[in-house]
Amino acid sequence: MANERTFLLTAVEPVATATWRLRLSGDTTGLCRAGQFVMVSVPGRYLRRPISVCDCEPGLLTLIVKVMGEGTAELVSLAPGTPLQLLCGLGNGFDIEATPRDKEAMIIGGGVGVAPLLLLCKQLREADRHVTAVLGFNTRADIFLERELEAAGADVIVATADGTAGCQGFVTDAIRMCSLKSDYFYACGPRPMLKAVCQQLRQAGEVSTEERMGCGAGICYGCTCQTTDGPKRTCKEGPVFKKEELVW
Ligand SMILES: Cc1cc2nc3c(=O)[nH]c(=O)nc-3n(C[C@H](O)[C@H](O)[C@H](O)COP(=O)(O)OP(=O)(O)OC[C@H]3O[C@@H](n4cnc5c(N)ncnc54)[C@H](O)[C@@H]3O)c2cc1C
Ligand code: FES
Repeated sequence: MANERTFLLTAVEPVATATWRLRLSGDTTGLCRAGQFVMVSVPGRYLRRPISVCDCEPGLLTLIVKVMGEGTAELVSLAPGTPLQLLCGLGNGFDIEATPRDKEAMIIGGGVGVAPLLLLCKQLREADRHVTAVLGFNTRADIFLERELEAAGADVIVATADGTAGCQGFVTDAIRMCSLKSDYFYACGPRPMLKAVCQQLRQAGEVSTEERMGCGAGICYGCTCQTTDGPKRTCKEGPVFKKEELVW
């Protein structure tokens, strides 16, 4: 259920090239489903910016923000102590139960799409699923959350497009080269990566898409994507869709 809350920005730390970790304190009740997102008000901007929940503990919310344009640049330049208005509890989130108990889950992220994988990993491990994380970046300096995912209990494989760290290539190359197997997969990242993952992996899975958004609350229909069941709003019926649902 979407609702507006005020959080206090407590820290802004660099984690990779143009990528920052924002720590916020406030009421996190009901916000802790992996794959959900918040719409963050940026002072002086009309539209809020959609950002995935990276981690969530009682009273503490962690977001990872990559600077893409003016809104995100402004967000990471805010001083600790700034109050932020967040529209919370948005989106459907990942389905932890879709991975059978004691089976293997593969979580796959590309670029800033790695952000929601930390909470997903924690929730899968708490539910006794084994987790392999496959993270794709352009280059070594872009890598983030590798150590945090290891600490959360995942086997982590990194791929970089230029080969400066881990396997050279895309996440799909790393999965093939390392012969990685799983019973179910979860992926988040740019659309071409999601399409390639869905085409390559034979097992069932689900993907979180990053459509451009206006309201984030199901009203403007600006985030509609095509599914086998007709057009759906990414912010309301998504952002997570089953592999077979999306029309590429
Ligand atoms: C469900 C979801 C989760 C996301 N999670 C994260 C995250 O955890 N970390 C992160 O850094 N980024 C995330 N993004 C992408 C992030 O929302 C955009 O990079 C950001 O809105 C760009 O804003 P800007 O003002 O810097 O760029 P501008 O290009 O100046 O933005 C102009 C407008 O377009 C919208 N817009 C631009 N790019 C995107 C995009 N890719 N997705 C949606 N709206 C966009 C902006 O919100 C703004 O309203 C997510 C997007 C979605 C849809
Ligand atoms: S962003 Fe307005 S309906 Fe989804």
